[in-house]
Amino acid sequence: MTQKIIPAILTSDPEDLRAKLQFFKGESEWMHIDIMDGRFVPNISVSVRDLLAPEGRAGDFRLEIHLMVQNPQAYLADCKAVGASRIIIHQEAAGDIEKALREMKAYGLQAGIALNPATPADAITRYANDIASVLVMAINPGSQGQEFMPSVLEKIPAIKKDFPHLLIGVDGGVGEANISQVLQAGAEYAVVGSKIFEAEDPVEAFRKLKEKVGIDI
Ligand code: DX5
Ligand code: ZN
Repeated sequence: MTQKIIPAILTSDPEDLRAKLQFFKGESEWMHIDIMDGRFVPNISVSVRDLLAPEGRAGDFRLEIHLMVQNPQAYLADCKAVGASRIIIHQEAAGDIEKALREMKAYGLQAGIALNPATPADAITRYANDIASVLVMAINPGSQGQEFMPSVLEKIPAIKKDFPHLLIGVDGGVGEANISQVLQAGAEYAVVGSKIFEAEDPVEAFRKLKEKVGIDI
């Protein structure tokens, strides 16, 4: 994992999804796609299958699919079909998490677990041997543009200490004001939504953020 900042697309409009992917073609190796079911979180997003654009644009990226859904297992076949690289499911989701992790393995998908702000770091202990990454949420999932909660960063050293093999991402409310803090806390990568996509020029905003933390990839 070398990419430190991953643009996040959260939308309910397949056209918007395609347009946002198009912006980043050739600019970002990875894209983070937010999927919501209206149950685990109140909002609804595009479906995983919308990533199968006729133009095949999703194929230009490595996709991290963030499943903010109650029953993640039901989405895994589609994630495989669209050629996703990494799937993130929530520790707080209903359903059999271990079973979902086993299925991801069988599909050859990299597995990650997301932790809501209120969920302690040690909630990943029972899954640690079956996952490659942890996504530390710095907002309550469901929408973009919320305020960053710095206290969640304390989970990073706690996870690193016990499970140094796990890649750690931070998702929610990240921008110019706190990107350095996030990476200095030990996260391998940060997921950035509104601070990139609400800028007049999203690609320029992405480049600026990378410059800010001194990375050129
Ligand atoms: C929140 C999503 C995040 C979101 C990030 O439900 O999981 O990935 O798109 O957007 P910002 O950076 O605006 O918080
Ligand atoms: Zn996300």
